[in-house]
Amino acid sequence: MDPKEEIKSRVDIAELVGEYLPLKPAGPSRFRALCPFHAEKTPSFHVSADKQIWHCFGCNEGGDCFSFVMKMEGMDFPEALMHLGKKVGVEVVRFSATETNEKRRLLEANDLAARYYRKVLMESAVGVNARAYLERRGIPDTLAETFGLGFAPDAWDALTVFLSKRGFQPVEQEKAGLVLRRKDGSGVYDRFRNRLMIPLCDAHGNVIGFTGRVMPQEGSQASEDGPKYMNSPETEIYHKGRTLYGLHLAKQAIKREGRVVIVEGNLDVVASHKAGVENVVGSSGTALTEDQLAILRRFTTTIVFSFDADAAGFKAAQRGIALARRSGFDVRVAVLPADAGKDPDEAVQNDPELWRVACAKTVPIMQYFIDRAAVGRDLSSVDDKRAVAALLIPELSQIKDVIEREHWLQTVSDLLRTNTDVLRDAINGTQMSGSVRPERAGVGTARVPASRAASPTTRDEQAVRSLLGMLVQVPSVREMIVLALEARLLPSDRVWALYNDMREEYHSSQSMDQAPHSYFGRLEARLTGRDHERSLLHEIVLHGEEIVAQLPPERVADQVHELLDSLTASDHDRRRKAIEADMRRAEQAGDKATVEKLIREFNALR
Ligand code: UTP
Ligand code: MN
Repeated sequence: MDPKEEIKSRVDIAELVGEYLPLKPAGPSRFRALCPFHAEKTPSFHVSADKQIWHCFGCNEGGDCFSFVMKMEGMDFPEALMHLGKKVGVEVVRFSATETNEKRRLLEANDLAARYYRKVLMESAVGVNARAYLERRGIPDTLAETFGLGFAPDAWDALTVFLSKRGFQPVEQEKAGLVLRRKDGSGVYDRFRNRLMIPLCDAHGNVIGFTGRVMPQEGSQASEDGPKYMNSPETEIYHKGRTLYGLHLAKQAIKREGRVVIVEGNLDVVASHKAGVENVVGSSGTALTEDQLAILRRFTTTIVFSFDADAAGFKAAQRGIALARRSGFDVRVAVLPADAGKDPDEAVQNDPELWRVACAKTVPIMQYFIDRAAVGRDLSSVDDKRAVAALLIPELSQIKDVIEREHWLQTVSDLLRTNTDVLRDAINGTQMSGSVRPERAGVGTARVPASRAASPTTRDEQAVRSLLGMLVQVPSVREMIVLALEARLLPSDRVWALYNDMREEYHSSQSMDQAPHSYFGRLEARLTGRDHERSLLHEIVLHGEEIVAQLPPERVADQVHELLDSLTASDHDRRRKAIEADMRRAEQAGDKATVEKLIREFNALR
C-alpha cells in the first residue's frame, strides 16, 4: 500500500477531528460540531466515521483526514502526509533525501542556538542586563518562554564554540545564518552579539532564524552597535518574504476569530499576546508579499492592519494593502487612539484594553483611507476637495464589488458634497486611462476562490440530493432510483456529472457485493482528481446518512417514492408551462393543428 492509503487506513477521522473540536454524536458513527472554518451558531460540520470523511454544509468545505489537517494546520499536502504519518507510525519518505538532510541540519543548528540564547538569558550572569530590559518592557517570563526569547552574549565566539562542540562544522553554522566568515577567511565569528534574541519560526514552530534587538546602553550610539534590529540572512530555511512573525502561535486564534491582525514589530506581537489578542502576526515593518498573503489565505480572508503612529508605517504597508485587496482579502484597520502610544506595544504598556478595543472595533480599509485623506483638510475649499478626491479616486476604483463601490462612492460624495455621478465618471476615467493598470492587473486571477456554494437552493435540488444520498447509503433502493431518476427530473446540471458516475458504477458493479461502503469506496476512487464531484459526493453522502438515520428502515422506500413523485410533479409543471407558451405562439400564427396537438399533450400531463 502506498503511504497515503496506509495512513488513511490507520487514521480515524473522528478521533483526529475530535482532537481539535468537541464532537457531538449525531447518529450511528456520525458526529457534528461547530465548523472551525467559518463562523456559525448551529453546527453544520459533519463527520462520518463510517466513510472517514468530513463536510460542512454551511461553507461547503469537506474531504478526508489530509484535507482536514491541511486546512486546520495550514499545511500543504506533503506536510499533512508527514504529520499524519508520524502520528500513526507510517514512514513517509521525502522526495529529496539529501536536500532535506541538509535542511534538517540547519533547523537543528537554529534550534540549538535558540536554546543556547535562551539559557544565557535566563541563567547566566551576562544575561542580567537583558533580563532587566525585558522586565522594563513588561515582558513576563511566561511570555518570554512562549516566544523563546534569549540573549546573545557580547562575545565573538560564544555561539560558534557551543555549536562546534555539538558537532556543527563552521560551514554549517554559516549556512544556518548564525555566524559570519572572517575577512581573512581564517574562521567564523558570531553574527549576533550583545542582542536580545527573538527566534523566527515557520508555521509549525520550527526555529528558522533570528532577529536580534540591540541592547539599549547609556552613552553608546546605536550606530556603533549596528542597526536596531538585525536579522538572519536568507538561508535554505529562512526566507524573509515567506515568514510572518508569530504565525505558529497565532494559527488557531486566527481561525477562531476569522481574521488576522498584522503589526509592524516583533515585540508588538509579544505585547499583543500579553493583552490576550493572539490572532496577530508581525510583518517586520515591510509590505506583505504575495507569498505571505498566500500563507495567510490558508487561515483567513480577513486582514486587519495596524500601523505605527508615524507615517512610515502606513507607507511601508501600502503596497501590501493594495496586494491584499487585489487578491480578494477583506482588508480592515485597527486604529489606536492618538494618545495610546506609537505602536501596539506602547498601547499595551499604557493599557491593554486600548489594544483589545482597537482589534475588536476595526474599520474597513476604505473608511480608513477616507478618514486619512480628510485629516487637516478644509472641505469647503475647492483645492482641498480636489486633493481629497485625487487621493480617494484610485482607491475607489480598486473596489471590485459593485454594491460595495456604490456604498463608498456615496460616502465620499457626501463628504465632498458632490454628485456621485461626478465621482463615478472620474473612476471610470481612471480605469479607462489605465493609470492604475498595474494595480488592477491581478483582478480576477488572484481572487480568493468563492465558497463552492453548492448548497441546494430549491426544493427540487434538495430532493435530488436526498435521493442520491439514499442511493449510496441504501443498496435496496439503488435500482429504483437509477431507473426512475432521469435527466429531465434534475432541476439543474450541477449534480448531473456525479449522478452519471453513480449510475455507471451501479451498472458496472451490480454483480459485486452490495455493501454501501464498497459502493461508496468505488465511487470515491472513480472520482480521483475530480475535486468538485468528490466534494459533492461527500456532501451528499453525509446528507444521506442523516436521512437514513432518521427514518425507520421500512419507510425508506416510501420516502424515495415521495421524492421521485415530487420531482415528477415539478417536471410536469415545467413542461406544461412550455406547452402553454408554444400554444400561445401557435394560436397567434393561426396554426390550428398544432394547437390541438398541444392541448392533447397538455391534458396527458394532468
Ligand atoms: P520599529 O522601529 O517600529 O521597532 O520597527 P519596534 O518593534 O517598535 O521596536 P522596539 O519597540 O523599539 O523594540 C518595526 C520593525 O521593523 C523591523 C523590525 O522587524 C521591527 O520589529 N526593523 C526595524 C528592522 O528590521 N531593522 C531595524 O533596524 C529597525
Ligand atoms: Mn515598539
